[in-house]
Amino acid sequence: MHVDGSKLLEQATFARLQAYAPYSKFQVGAALLDSQGNIHLGCNVENAAYGPTNCAERTALFRAIADGHQPGSFQAIAVIGDTDTPITPCGVCRQVLVELCGREMPVFMGNIKGDWTQTTVGDLLPGAFDSRSLDHS
Ligand code: THU
Repeated sequence: MHVDGSKLLEQATFARLQAYAPYSKFQVGAALLDSQGNIHLGCNVENAAYGPTNCAERTALFRAIADGHQPGSFQAIAVIGDTDTPITPCGVCRQVLVELCGREMPVFMGNIKGDWTQTTVGDLLPGAFDSRSLDHS
């Protein structure tokens, strides 16, 4: 199925405005497309202890899961930040994307200048440790 990456990036741009990023001052937005065509927005939410910070991608994913959407049912995600080249998800978010999304799911990455590129969940984390890795017996 064709996914409109530019529309999803536009929604991520709106989500970015909600970022709570008083420490890094680096605002990130994400938009996750579900199986019914609805969009779940996420932003980064920071913490004075730094470690509890939640990235925009995980906020969108956890929000959709909490709203009852099934892992593996999502169509695409877009993420945007104020970077020179399109933003790239952190390692923790890549691991969570592998857990909750199909390996072929498109990931649209952009910056606020309008540059963007597209990859897949599987290409972001080759050789991922996943649920199959636990099937050892
Ligand atoms: N951040 C995201 O939300 N997504 C990314 O893809 C990269 C990093 C956030 C985490 C932190 O709040 C800030 O950006 C600086 O790392």
